[in-house]
Amino acid sequence: MMTKPSIQGRTALITGASSGIGRQVALDLADLGVHVILVARRQDRLVSIQQEIEKRRGSAEYFVCDLEKEDARSELIAHLPELKPIDILVNNAGFGWYGYYADMPWELAHSLVEVNITAMLALTRALLPGMRQHGYGHVINIGSMVGSFPNQGVAVYSASKAFMDAFTTAVYREMRGSSVHVSVLRLGPVKTEFFDTAKQSENGNKIPGEGLSISVEHASRAVINLVRSPRRFQYVPGIFSVVRVVEFLFGWIIDKLGPLLLRRLPKHEARL
Ligand SMILES: NC(=O)c1ccc[n+]([C@@H]2O[C@H](COP(=O)([O-])OP(=O)(O)OC[C@H]3O[C@@H](n4cnc5c(N)ncnc54)[C@H](OP(=O)(O)O)[C@@H]3O)[C@@H](O)[C@H]2O)c1
Repeated sequence: MMTKPSIQGRTALITGASSGIGRQVALDLADLGVHVILVARRQDRLVSIQQEIEKRRGSAEYFVCDLEKEDARSELIAHLPELKPIDILVNNAGFGWYGYYADMPWELAHSLVEVNITAMLALTRALLPGMRQHGYGHVINIGSMVGSFPNQGVAVYSASKAFMDAFTTAVYREMRGSSVHVSVLRLGPVKTEFFDTAKQSENGNKIPGEGLSISVEHASRAVINLVRSPRRFQYVPGIFSVVRVVEFLFGWIIDKLGPLLLRRLPKHEARL
């Protein structure tokens, strides 16, 4: 059996590291001897994760950044040369909103695109040349199964993850033959604050699928497996790879059901 390469001594930058999947990936990478750079808006969370990592004899630093804002992203990118060369970039920061696109506040749609798409493009563009130069690098994009199975109720979110899928595939092909890898993890539901965020957004409704959620530990294990055995994409849980076939063969049935599949919360709950 081939042994998997060690990632000890590498450096990883993880966006959205203050909670959920990003937090767990940071802890797990740090446990494997990777120096982690935590990026998110909530400084108190980042400080406590850094302390937790250091208690476990790992090494971490953080950078507070609102990835929605162009000037904040530029500040982060300008700071990168002062850090250790980054080997692994985990584009994880993101959020969702559930409801009719016609009801989605425009500012929220714009924010979603900035965080889920533009921040990924900006950081990947900033780090890929260095990775190529060092002869090692891995960009891991935290996508979703809805990227290949666009669903009513999550129009902009599905589109952001489809963008991520297409971008990953194209750059993966550009990097073939080099030691720089690009991957997308197409996740099913994961038990995190993601669902609360989506529900609490103005006019946002409850996203279905919460009951089927896997744990953050499970999602993080998949990220670590990708780092160790790079591949273009991975559905997690694996059973969700079936969604591509369902969309191809039965998309017309879903078209007919249309808004019947949209689950609404009573107005007062949606405005929590
Ligand atoms: N949970 C699921 O079911 C699921 C399924 C498929 C894919 N995903 C994807 O997994 C990723 C992580 O989500 P999660 O489930 O772990 O949710 P989460 O616990 O809500 O984490 C989201 C992370 O993104 C950060 N973030 C959000 N807006 C940001 C901004 N403007 N600037 C900087 N950071 C920002 C948050 O940090 P701050 O609030 O501190 O800034 C937080 O650390 C997302 O890309 C999501 O689309 C989740």
